[in-house]
Amino acid sequence: MENTIILDEVDSTNSYLKRRCAELPDGCAVTARIQTAGRGRRGHSWAANEGMLPLSVLFKNPPERENLTARTGLAVCEAIGEMYENPPEIVLKWPNDVIVNSHKVCGILCESVFIGDCTNIIVGIGVNVGQDEEFFRATELPHAASLLMLTGIQPEREKLFSAIVEHVKNRVAMPFSECYGEYKARLLNLNKKVKIISTSGERIAVAVDVAPNGFLVCRDENGEFEVSSGEVSVRGIDGYL
Ligand code: BTN
Repeated sequence: MENTIILDEVDSTNSYLKRRCAELPDGCAVTARIQTAGRGRRGHSWAANEGMLPLSVLFKNPPERENLTARTGLAVCEAIGEMYENPPEIVLKWPNDVIVNSHKVCGILCESVFIGDCTNIIVGIGVNVGQDEEFFRATELPHAASLLMLTGIQPEREKLFSAIVEHVKNRVAMPFSECYGEYKARLLNLNKKVKIISTSGERIAVAVDVAPNGFLVCRDENGEFEVSSGEVSVRGIDGYL
């Protein structure tokens, strides 16, 4: 594949592209056998061993920067589905956690670097491909699992990497409005009770829709309100989903 960097070991594929984005071309994708200091959303770390597939793709001035993580989530669902003759059900937990059989198999972290007139967007994706149960026990991630654990089949890393990069490029080039229907069809939260956790506290509501701007439309006894993905976590009322 063109514009691809394959490393043996890296601290974080997102950090790698952040450091080099001025000299690397639009569409450049990086992956590694192992990532030692992966970063997750909201300042969390992202645990890995060789069973986790880390990758990041660089976009220079993409046409639409809103809802990139949602579109990326959709792209990852499509790519994972292609790895199977009989694909499992692959759904999204708003805004972008990829879920197979009630477990998180992928996390997405998008970051920006501004250089002059150029907005560099780094789309970072970590897929749990082949870790075993012991890995998720030791890292205390009870809601996560690998594709191998959930399906009994471990997709080939190179194949999955190429498929994800292709689908992400395709979805990043598309406006969210064109992805909206497919995105909503994959969302598992709709018409479910959710707990919205933010720095100002928790709120229980029913997720009723996704607005055209990607916000989650919720309803409680005071009426409808919209939640933006920024700094909130949306969970089920009794647990992760
Ligand atoms: C999340 O918190 O759910 C997002 C996790 C994102 C992890 C990926 S792994 C590849 C890329 N490099 C990083 O340091 N983070 C992302």
